Amino acid sequence: MDVQNSLADGILHIELTNPPVNILSVAKHFVSRLVEAIGEGLTSSHVETLILSGAGGNFCAGADIKDFEGNLERLDQIRNLMNMVESADKPIIAAIDGFCLGGGLELALAAHYRVATQASQIGFPEISLGLLPGAGGTQRAPRVMGARQALALMLSGKPISPDEALDAGLIDHVVEGDIVSQARKLAKSSKFRDVRRSCDLPPPADLENALSTTSTDGTSTLARHHIVDCVRHIAQSSFQDGLRHEAELFAELMQTTGSRALRHGFFGRRIVNQIPGLAETKPQHISTVSVIGGGLMGTGIAIAILNAGLEVNLVEPRVDGREQAESTIRKAIMRDVDKGRIDAAGADARFARLTMAETIAEAAQADLFIEAVFEDLEVKERVFREIDRHAPAHAILGSNTSTLDLNTIASFTQRPERVVGLHFFSPANIMRLLEIVRGDQTSPEVLQSAMSFAKAIRKTGVVAGVCDGFIGNRIFEEYLRQAWFLLEEGAFPDQLDSALENFGFAMGPCRVMDLAGQNIGWKIRKRRALEQPDRPYSKVPDLICEQGRFGQKTGKGMYLYPDGRTPEVDPEVTQTIIAESERLGIARRAIPDCEIVERCVLAMINEGAKILEEGIAYRPVDIDVVYLDGYGFPAERGGPMFHADTIGIGQIISSMNRYQEGRHGWAWGPANLLEELAAAGRTFADLNLEGEKAGE
Ligand code: 3HC
Repeated sequence: MDVQNSLADGILHIELTNPPVNILSVAKHFVSRLVEAIGEGLTSSHVETLILSGAGGNFCAGADIKDFEGNLERLDQIRNLMNMVESADKPIIAAIDGFCLGGGLELALAAHYRVATQASQIGFPEISLGLLPGAGGTQRAPRVMGARQALALMLSGKPISPDEALDAGLIDHVVEGDIVSQARKLAKSSKFRDVRRSCDLPPPADLENALSTTSTDGTSTLARHHIVDCVRHIAQSSFQDGLRHEAELFAELMQTTGSRALRHGFFGRRIVNQIPGLAETKPQHISTVSVIGGGLMGTGIAIAILNAGLEVNLVEPRVDGREQAESTIRKAIMRDVDKGRIDAAGADARFARLTMAETIAEAAQADLFIEAVFEDLEVKERVFREIDRHAPAHAILGSNTSTLDLNTIASFTQRPERVVGLHFFSPANIMRLLEIVRGDQTSPEVLQSAMSFAKAIRKTGVVAGVCDGFIGNRIFEEYLRQAWFLLEEGAFPDQLDSALENFGFAMGPCRVMDLAGQNIGWKIRKRRALEQPDRPYSKVPDLICEQGRFGQKTGKGMYLYPDGRTPEVDPEVTQTIIAESERLGIARRAIPDCEIVERCVLAMINEGAKILEEGIAYRPVDIDVVYLDGYGFPAERGGPMFHADTIGIGQIISSMNRYQEGRHGWAWGPANLLEELAAAGRTFADLNLEGEKAGE
C-alpha cells in the first residue's frame, strides 16, 4: 500500500496503490499519504498539473467500508481530501481505468478533469449498502451531469460505461491505450490548463423537474429518500451547507439496521471464501469440466461454466436428451445476445467451448466432473463408479446431490478424498449460491479448489458439512414445517405469503414451493414420515399433492395459475385446508401476520443454531450468506443469524418457550447454542468475529 509519485515535464503523476482495488483506507494511513503527496505537488514550483490514477488497472473502488464502522469521524479525512483536491490552484486530472466507484468517483468529481478508458466502470454503489455518496457525491454529481442523470446513477447503484459517462458530461474524454500517457498528453493541451471546480457550477437546470419525476420506491427506502433530499438541498442552500447536510444523513444511515445488514452481507460474501485452516492450501487449476446429466440442472450448470470462460463436456446418454440439452444451452446463450449482455463473438466462443458426449469415457479429459443426474442413490452409484473408472488422477469428482449422503457417494469411488458436494440451485446459471459439501474424507486441496471454482464461475461458494439438507434445505424444512402448521391452524396460502413477503422475503413459502414443484417436498415428507415419526408434519401440502396439484408446472398448486405464472386464490384449496383443520379438531383462528413471521423465522434461527453447534457451518455468517444468495432472505435483514442478533437471543428464547406451551411444542426446544449465548450475553456476531480470525 503506497502512493507512488513521478514528476516529468511539469506533470506530477500520483498513483494510488492499495491493492486490489485502491480503496481509500484511512486507518491504514493511505489517505493521509495521498493528502501529503498532493500537498507536495501543490506547493512545488516544478509542478504545473497533477494526474491521479490507480495501480493495477483500477482507479479506486471507494472508501474503505470497514474504516468507519464505529469511527465515522474517519470519513472527514476523506472529505478533506476531496476539498483539498477541488480547491487546488493547479489543475488536477483524474485518469480513470477499471473500477471508479463510490468515494473513488467522488475523488474524480473533486478533480478538475476526468478522462477514462473503455475498461472503466463508473458508479455510486453506496445504495446497495443502504448508504448515500457521503464525500460530496450528492452535491457535485448533479452539478456536473445534471440532476436527472445523477439521481439515476445514485439510486440505481449500477455502474455506467465510459461512453454513457461521456454523454452525461460526467467525464471529459474516453481514451484508448495507456491511461496515464493519454492523460499526460491531454494535460499539455490548452483545454486542460484551467482549474475548473465542480462546486462552482450553478445548481443544475433540471433540478426541479428531476426531483418531481424521481420515485423513491424500491429497496433501501431511507437511503433513497436521503439521496433525493441531499439533491433537493442543492436548490436550498450553499455548496458547503449541502456537504454538511449530506454528512449528517450519511451518519444517520450508517446506524440503521438495514445498512448494517447490507454491509454484513457484502463482507459476508467475502468471508465465506475463507475456509478455516486452509489459508495456505493452494487451489488446483480447473479449465475443463465434464457435467454428467443433460437435464435442467446439468444444462444450467453447463451454461454457468461456459459463461465463465471454461470448457464444458456435457454427457447425456440419450440422443434426444442430448439434442434437447444442446438446444437449451444455445437458446440461453442467444437470449444473452438478444438482451445485449454478450456479443455474437462471445456467443460463438461459448459454443466452441462446449462438447456434447454420449458417455463418461468420451468426456474423460477433465479437471472436474460434476454429476447432475436423478436424485437416486443407485443412479448416483452407477455414475460415480463410471467416473472413477475414467477420470484422470488429478480430477475432482463433484456431486450435485441436495439430499443424499455425500460420504456414501464418495465410498463408490477408490478416491473419496477427491469427492466433494457441489450443490447448485436451480436455475443454476442464474442463482448465485453454491453449497460446497465437505465429505469426511474430502481433501483440503479439493475443498479449496471447489471454493476457487465457485469464484471462477461467479458464484458465492459456502462450505457445509454432511447432513440431511446441508445448510440451506435443512433450515428451510423447519421454516416450511411451521408454515404448513399455520395453514391448518387458521392461515391461508395468500396470508402466509403476504406476511412473509412484507417481512421482505422475495417469495412466500406457498409460491416458492409452487414454483419449485410441490412434489419435491412431498417426496421428502414421505421419507421423513418413516425416518422421523416423532417429528410430524401438517398433511395440508400432501393433500394438495394428492389432488395432482404440483404447482406452476401443473397449472395449480397452493394457488391456481390460469396464465401459467400469476397465482390466484383457489377456493378448492381453501376448502381442503378447512376440511383438514376440521378433521384434526382444530378451531381455526385469525392468526396475526406477526405470528406467522415470528414462527417461521424463529424456526430457521433455531435450526441455524443447531447447524452451528454441529459444525455443519463454520460461522453464523455462512448461514446468512446461504439464505441471502440462495433463498431470497431479505437483504436488509442480513440473513437469519444476523436477524437473530437484532431481535436479541434472550428474546428469541422467551418466544420459543412460549411456543413450547402451544401446539407442536416439541418443535420449539431451543438449541443448546442459543441457551449458551444467552447465558454468556454473547451474540452470533461474536461467533463471526472468532470465526473470521480462524479463517485468516
Ligand atoms: N471497502 C472495504 N473493502 C473493500 C471495498 C470497500 N469499499 N471494496 C472492495 N473491498 C475488498 C473486498 O472485501 C475484498 O477483500 P478480501 O480480498 O479481503 O476479501 C477485496 O477488496 C477485493 O474485492 P472483491 O473480492 O469484491 O473483488 P471483485 O473484483 O469481485 O469486485 C468490486 C470488486 C466490484 C470493487 C467490489 O469489491 C465492490 O463492489 N466493492 C465495493 C464498492 C463500493 O461499494 N464502494 C463504495 C464504498 S462506500 C463509499 O465509498 C462511501 C463514500 O461515499 C463516502
